[in-house]
Amino acid sequence: MRLVSDRPDMPKLDTTVPQTARIWNHLLGGKDNFAVDREVGDQIIASMPELAENARLSRAYLVRAVRWLATDAGIRQFLDVGTGLPTAGNTHEVAQKAAPDARIVYVDNDPLVLAHARALLTSTPEGATDYIDADMHDQKSILERAAETLDFGKPVGLIMMGILGHVEDDAEAKSIIDGFLQAMPSGSYLAMYDGSDTSPAVTEAVRIWNISANPKYHLRSPARIAALFDGLELVEPGVVSVTRWKPDNGDLPAEIDQYCAVGRKP
Ligand SMILES: C[S@@+](CC[C@H](N)C(=O)[O-])C[C@H]1O[C@@H](n2cnc3c(N)ncnc32)[C@H](O)[C@@H]1O
Repeated sequence: MRLVSDRPDMPKLDTTVPQTARIWNHLLGGKDNFAVDREVGDQIIASMPELAENARLSRAYLVRAVRWLATDAGIRQFLDVGTGLPTAGNTHEVAQKAAPDARIVYVDNDPLVLAHARALLTSTPEGATDYIDADMHDQKSILERAAETLDFGKPVGLIMMGILGHVEDDAEAKSIIDGFLQAMPSGSYLAMYDGSDTSPAVTEAVRIWNISANPKYHLRSPARIAALFDGLELVEPGVVSVTRWKPDNGDLPAEIDQYCAVGRKP
């Protein structure tokens, strides 16, 4: 168990500017947020009451995707970039429930996530967890640090949930994904979701978010999200609303404006 934070430019906790991880925590009903985050979160909920439910449904997809990777795909190592604040059903809890020897490395650049990271370091004795405080663009150092816990000679599940919307340019988002996947062997997977521009209400909620929140968030169309999986083999059912990705009870829940997919590196 180890915390990594040696950035000389480590940002201080700023409680005056709303932060994405803390707004998301508020939408999920968590307590790890400040008045400024709740203010933006409540404005967003007022303009789009379903958004809190969307946050919950997106986390539910994360749980199903990680569980599928650990059980059906046999993945035993995970790199979770854009972890967010600890909540119920963290990646390591889900993966290690299915496979107690699973090894998980978390990455986020929010100082409050770092402050709460100990809750992510509760590994089973057979497995391992680690937390890296870093920006996703800093791939070289993330991969170097992660290699202390993960064996990049074996398949890895790259988890990027709700983070690539913080990268406006598609080519840049794709190169971040590819930069991580290049370090991983064939049989590795990418699992991601992000907000989609599929309704005027969500577009308005994100406009409010972006007035003050840091970093800003950019919605993509389902086709643009699908293009981020170019070169990967999409797992059934492909690129869909998070509610439609292998729902637990097998029925067809309503679609929401968050799209996702899981793809396998050939
Ligand atoms: C919307 S939250 C999603 C959290 C979690 N993955 C989930 O699905 O519930 C996005 C997370 O990405 C993190 N993030 C945003 N930009 C980042 C960057 N450049 N490098 C690392 N983490 C980043 C934020 O701090 C935040 O915790």
